Order: sequence, then structure tokens, then C-alpha cells
Amino acid sequence: MPALTHEQQTQLMAAAKASIRHAYMPYSNYSVGAAVLTSDGQIFSGINIENAAYPAGTCAERVALGNAISQGHTQFNAIAVFSPKGEISPCGICRQFISEFGPDIQILFHWQGQLQQVAIKELLPFSFSKTQLNA
Ligand code: THU
Repeated sequence: MPALTHEQQTQLMAAAKASIRHAYMPYSNYSVGAAVLTSDGQIFSGINIENAAYPAGTCAERVALGNAISQGHTQFNAIAVFSPKGEISPCGICRQFISEFGPDIQILFHWQGQLQQVAIKELLPFSFSKTQLNA
């Protein structure tokens, strides 16, 4: 997978930030936005959606992917995640969810004061996948 251009990185992170205004987080007050870039260049965003039954809440990354998938997309180049509360990288469940769609998906996030771009296979090595199911 080709590395994202600086412009693509900026655009994707901007979409993640822009989505935050719709975050539904009455319990944690911790808003998160995510944006996914499809292989044909479209961007779909998502936000965290919490629930009074806490475990029923959903992360922004999975909402963004679900938004894209529900509109027919399953090929992804990258996903950006952002929180105005501070540096964030995808949680373990989201790493597994993203891995489903390919090991080379690039994850963009702020960490240690820098914009990081790391392939999902580096964030979740030895992941469980359809390879194991089909063995
Ligand atoms: N959250 C995300 O949306 N993405 C992550 O990768 C980590 C956590 C959300 C879930 C919950 O609504 C809030 O952040 C606090 O955990």
C-alpha cells in the first residue's frame, strides 16, 4: 500500500476532527472522532456513541468503518483517530475490527507529540483472522 501523501494525512485527520461535534459521550465526556479513507478515495467519518449500559457503547473507529461498510466499501487505505482530550490510539477491540479488512491499513494518530502513521499489522501483530478460521 502506498504511503499517504502529506495532503491525504491532513485531510483525513481534519475529517476525524470535524466529526467530533457529533460525538455522543454523556458518561465519559471523552469525545473521539475517526475518519476512514477508502481505496477509491472516499472519506467516511464516525464518532464514539456511548450508552447507559456502558459496554454497549461503541468507539469512533468502528462507527466510521461501519458507516463506510454500510455504504458498500470494504477496501480501506487508512483510518485517522483523534480526541480533543489528548493523544489517542485505537483500543484493542478496534485494532481487531480494523485488522479484518487487511494488514496494511494505515492508522493515523497523534502520539508522543507527533503524527504517527503505523500499519494495523504493527499495532496488532499475530492477530486472529479468517486465515485461522479456514485452517
Ligand atoms: N474510544 C474511542 O472512541 N476509540 C478508542 O480507540 C478508545 C476509546 C471511546 C470509547 C468511549 O466512548 C470513550 O472513548 C472513553 O473510553
